[in-house]
Amino acid sequence: MSTQGGAGGVTLTRLKKMKRAGGKFVCLAVYDAGFAAVACRAGVEVLLVGDSLGMVLQGHDSTLPVTMDDMIYHMRCVKRGNEGALLMGDMPFMSYASEAQTLENAAALMRAGAQVVKLEGGAWIANTTRLLAERGIPVCAHMGLTPQSVNRIGGFHVQGRDTSQAQSIIEEAQLLQQSGASLLLLECVPVALAKTIAETLEIPVIGIGAGAETDGQIMVVHDVLGISPITPKFVKNFLAEADGGIQDAIAAYVKAVKEGAFPAPEHCFH
Ligand code: KIV
Repeated sequence: MSTQGGAGGVTLTRLKKMKRAGGKFVCLAVYDAGFAAVACRAGVEVLLVGDSLGMVLQGHDSTLPVTMDDMIYHMRCVKRGNEGALLMGDMPFMSYASEAQTLENAAALMRAGAQVVKLEGGAWIANTTRLLAERGIPVCAHMGLTPQSVNRIGGFHVQGRDTSQAQSIIEEAQLLQQSGASLLLLECVPVALAKTIAETLEIPVIGIGAGAETDGQIMVVHDVLGISPITPKFVKNFLAEADGGIQDAIAAYVKAVKEGAFPAPEHCFH
């Protein structure tokens, strides 16, 4: 039986307490009930139904083709396998372009099982974040490399390497916290920038390709198991080193994050 936050599962309050105590929490992007259950048994605290499913499951070269119907289908699957992790869902490309769309789509994702919705963007999602937070929908803001903007950025590149862009990311992260964001996710930014942001913000900061100084880490389950067609610098195949099967590989990822052993220097950007 799936356990949601209120019934003994992981809550945002618990993540905040872990941050204050200096503990690390572990997140994993999964797309179905089977992997959700195995991840929970391995100790994963936050499950993300990511729009990375467009690339990982559907074989597209970006996340742009992913629809709300796709997200709702996979959210329902993951909810059925969830055994107490906090459940987060991505709002896909153009699903939060207007206020009306944002409210309808975020509500649909919450009804399908999400407990937090994740939106990509900086200052421009501040009003959207407030709109959702005021209506009881927790928001995780996703900054740094935002894959839905791959065409504007011109590729999947590290963000925030120059001083002025780094300063903007810091200021926009603060604005999003003030606007009611409950979590921040930083993707592919230099270690020093992620460290500054995690130290400055009160809300928990999750990193991917952002070094070991964030409060939580996230990976895509296919990367943990080494079955993705591409292997960016910031991922590690934990199945290659695991003694047992898939649950042991995910448990090794959890242990490495908790102990501060992952990400190691070779997975980081400067
Ligand atoms: O879509 C996704 O899975 C994500 C993670 C890679 C952070 O956004």
